[in-house]
Amino acid sequence: MLKADEIKIATLFVAAVGISYIIIKLLINRNENLEKKAIRDLNKLLEEDKARIQNKKFTKRTLSEFTGKGPNDPVLIAVKGVVYDVNMNGGRDFYGPGGPYSIFAGRDASRLFSLFEFDDGITEAELNSPIDPLDNLTADEEESLEAYIQLFKSKYKPVGVLVESLD
Ligand code: HEM
Repeated sequence: MLKADEIKIATLFVAAVGISYIIIKLLINRNENLEKKAIRDLNKLLEEDKARIQNKKFTKRTLSEFTGKGPNDPVLIAVKGVVYDVNMNGGRDFYGPGGPYSIFAGRDASRLFSLFEFDDGITEAELNSPIDPLDNLTADEEESLEAYIQLFKSKYKPVGVLVESLD
């Protein structure tokens, strides 16, 4: 009698362990699947983002959308016709929302870099005017601009060019 009870308890115990094992396995599997799905979604978003900005042509107006408004939005800056993704090497801290140089985000910063000046930010007039040809810079201004170009080339990734219009 005692033996039969022991066998029953042992069987129940084995069954309980087995069921717990299956449940834990299922939970782990579910988590892994969710994790994999999140990674897949993230990669898809990154790919879309890349496609959006890689080797692209930007007008001053389309560039102006890339000021990093959303946490995943890239910050782009044009210097002498080249559009750089500054979302790397700490660039977002300088140029992203709230950064000390956020004034340069989403625009052609060439003239300001050459003058070593800040201004009040993008205006409608700036967006409607042609690209600054930078053909009247003094030697000092050229030098200042060139130093920033070198800095940008060494830290950031060129992703496109600035054009008057998209055709
Ligand atoms: C009050 C005057 C300013 C101070 C104290 C200041 C200070 C600094 C400092 C400490 C850095 C970091 C340097 C490093 O990473 O080694 C920096 C970087 C920089 N500054 Fe200034 N700055 C001033 C004005 C300006 C102005 C007027 C401009 C542009 C017109 C400017 C443009 C930049 C740029 C583009 C960078 C490079 C950021 C990067 O690495 O992408 N700064 N500044």
